[in-house]
Amino acid sequence: MSAQILDGKAIALELRESIRSEVERQVEAGNPRPGLAVIMVGDDPASAVYVRNKKIACEKAGFNDVSEVLPADTTQEEVLALIDKLNADEAVHGIIVQLPVPDHIDPEEIIERIHPCKDVDGFHPYNVGRLATRMPIMAPCTPHGVMTMLAKTGINLRGLDAVVVGASNIVGVPQLLELLNERATVTVCHSATKNLAEKVGQADLVVVGVGIPEMVKGDWIKPGAIVIDVGINRMDDGRLVGDVEFDVAKEHASWITPVPGGVGPMTIATLLENTMKVAYQLDC
Ligand code: GUN
Repeated sequence: MSAQILDGKAIALELRESIRSEVERQVEAGNPRPGLAVIMVGDDPASAVYVRNKKIACEKAGFNDVSEVLPADTTQEEVLALIDKLNADEAVHGIIVQLPVPDHIDPEEIIERIHPCKDVDGFHPYNVGRLATRMPIMAPCTPHGVMTMLAKTGINLRGLDAVVVGASNIVGVPQLLELLNERATVTVCHSATKNLAEKVGQADLVVVGVGIPEMVKGDWIKPGAIVIDVGINRMDDGRLVGDVEFDVAKEHASWITPVPGGVGPMTIATLLENTMKVAYQLDC
């Protein structure tokens, strides 16, 4: 059996198109365009690609893009001052600081300085706490994008055994909370986990975000499981591969995300969705 492909690129395009038409409707009704500020400190090449893609997506969706690329030697105080300015700017609805930041910058202090209502990454402890208490306002973009993709399969997650591999603040931990809120039974595995293959092998749903090429072997996957690969790794020969051994895993899984064209495009689409929510009401 070969798995059905969960086509993140197509789902993200559909979401972005619905956001674009909602923005046009709101603008015609006299409301402002959503404003998104993406702050990047330094010149990490992978971050530069993400930031450029975010800029293009903003423009296509009819958002105002107020990205700021700051030199690598920008001080903590300068970044905090910029956040204070953006927090006070009514035309800016969402603020994110692209991670990773250079070593001399403390990301926790930066994230906490963003007003929780403008924290469209959902990384502020207030928003993490809202998600953990089943009262989400702003959910982190990658795990929430995964939930949007899972909804497309039509499969009810209630009672499924889910294994999340990777326990980062950006992916693993919020993914745990999102799945728990849908009443899945969730195990989170990380670098100290014993018997990883066995745990993955028992899962009805596997979400992997570790940043290690093909770390999860295809023959670990239980027949019929759903496999979501958050990883995107550039190999020496230029190929992009995920954290799951796709060619083998697809012979075991019922649904699987490709790399590229799986989870990646959902992150940006969800960022636009979060920013639009702030601009046109909603919960804050
Ligand atoms: N770096 C990798 N993924 C992300 C993300 O979702 N948000 C931010 N701000 N930085 C990232």
